Amino acid sequence: MRISEEIIKEIIDKADIVNIISSRIKIDKKGKDYIGLCPFHNDNNPSLSVSPAKKIYKCFSCGAGGNVINFVKEFDHISFMEALKIVGKTVDIEIDTDQKVDQNMLRYHSLMEEVTKFYSVYLTSTNEGQKALAYLKKRNIDENIIKRFKIGLSSFDNDLLYREFKDKYSEIDLINTGMIRSTQEGSKYFDVFKGRIMFPLADFDGYIVGFSGRIYEKSDESKYMNSFDNVIFNKSNILFNYKEALNDIKKLNFVYVFEGFMDVIAAYRAGINNSVATMGTAFTNEQIRAIKKITNNIILCYDGDLAGVEATKKTINLLNSFNINVRIVLLPEGNDPDDYLNQYGVNNFVSYLENNTMSAFDYLYKIYKRTLNIEDINSILSFKNKIFDVLASYKSDMLNEIAFKRMSDDISLNTDVIKEDYLKHFSKTTYRTQIPEFRKPAAHKTVKKRQKQQYLLCEKKLIFLAYQNKDKCAEIFRKLSFNYVNETHYLILSKFNNYYKTSQKIEERQLKEILTDKELEVFNSIINQKLTFRNDQDIDFFVNKINEYINELYWYRKKTANKDIDVEKYLKDLGSKIKTRNDIK
Ligand code: GTP
Ligand code: MN
Repeated sequence: MRISEEIIKEIIDKADIVNIISSRIKIDKKGKDYIGLCPFHNDNNPSLSVSPAKKIYKCFSCGAGGNVINFVKEFDHISFMEALKIVGKTVDIEIDTDQKVDQNMLRYHSLMEEVTKFYSVYLTSTNEGQKALAYLKKRNIDENIIKRFKIGLSSFDNDLLYREFKDKYSEIDLINTGMIRSTQEGSKYFDVFKGRIMFPLADFDGYIVGFSGRIYEKSDESKYMNSFDNVIFNKSNILFNYKEALNDIKKLNFVYVFEGFMDVIAAYRAGINNSVATMGTAFTNEQIRAIKKITNNIILCYDGDLAGVEATKKTINLLNSFNINVRIVLLPEGNDPDDYLNQYGVNNFVSYLENNTMSAFDYLYKIYKRTLNIEDINSILSFKNKIFDVLASYKSDMLNEIAFKRMSDDISLNTDVIKEDYLKHFSKTTYRTQIPEFRKPAAHKTVKKRQKQQYLLCEKKLIFLAYQNKDKCAEIFRKLSFNYVNETHYLILSKFNNYYKTSQKIEERQLKEILTDKELEVFNSIINQKLTFRNDQDIDFFVNKINEYINELYWYRKKTANKDIDVEKYLKDLGSKIKTRNDIK
């Protein structure tokens, strides 16, 4: 069966939106419509309204809205197709989720192409455009770069794009592709991107599927705004410049990975095109797989600030687990690649990248050495332990020797003493003490409880799987690396993982030895919860969800380091974003 737009329309028309939404949240009748607390942001006043006549829902506080399928998709955290299937069932229309929405895709792709052209004309031939061009010029982005990256401009007008496109494309297409939104009553539409310089984002196949818009005048709005995840756009499947860089990456057999797409553009200005960037998120498994298809060599070049270093450390762990060779460029503190190029010029930029890449080990050594204070015994011990942990993960005698020598110089101790200490460090340790330090996610408590529950549930399901099966446990532990929401969950998983190193199976009676009383209590409550698993929910699914959440917190931390930010407003946005799986910057 082919899923046509008619079928989607039919399902939306026939479905009882009030019934479906009220089976998920509490809504009360008010006049013709229903109202309730919006589940997509931290709502205290009922801001969500559901119109059975228009078959839409809308939150007039956070802007969430759409048809019944969008609601199920966002609320249940599933794909559009899965939501379609669920809603279809309620009206006796069977949807085979293996089928592709071919025709729709074709139309969406041409829509996005046309929008891109529209934005680019708007940039080059309007008065508003002159200001934006001046901004780009200030950032050394000239006409060629604008063309190459198809950079454009969205107008400050409320609904210019909508008016331009409404005759050629349906509202539903424009909403599905994330270009317009509807007002509360669903009677008016307005543009999603307003007054931003528009950077098209293409998927792995090179189709433009979304945009990132940057402000170019002083504004309280966030610096970048990305398309929200929708039918065609999935942020975790975007690597900026991937398709365009494909050949160069293959030829040179390595890829630069940057934190921001502005850095990719900077590299291009310096004649380097084998580079990609994630959309402000940590690497996802999909992105790593896409890279692994074309090269096994990554050079990470993240910002020289603290957050950049933290992200680099995490990414090294992750890439190691994929057996990718990773090297690092350590930028001067306070610089990103784009800043560096603008400050020192093309030649210095290129030679900096060439002469300052180092192995992951050297990088970690350097980073840990930065905080080493040889006047302070605790600092020395902690430095030593950190290096030992890194060495343990490489399991190379040669590397050990080199590292011991280096440490001997840095902390003025005999190499033999260090070596002996290293051997002791690991021989004595049992599965309880080998567990690496848990890094508490920043701003843990500030995210609403209700929103956290679903991520905790993912962890619980992973614990359940890990308990049942040794291989699964190893996979989970490897894939999650240090991304956990709850410390006790982390400890349980690590202990299972360590226990499996010496046995094939965890017997129930052994749990008492493996876990502390508190952990055992948590574990038992998980087992008693009778968790259910959907077919499409595999380990990757849960891991991705948890990573999304950790990313949000990462961004929150990065943002709050900047004093200008309105924390309250940011948290509010953050709340709604987590819940809607939308823009995880
Ligand atoms: P410029 O400030 O324009 O030079 O960009 P940058 O590349 O230096 O940006 P930065 O290092 O601050 O952020 C890196 C990436 O994170 C960007 O490319 C965006 O994808 C993302 N990002 C940064 N700020 C925001 C934001 O406010 N919202 C969202 N959604 N993403 C952001
Ligand atoms: Mn920058």
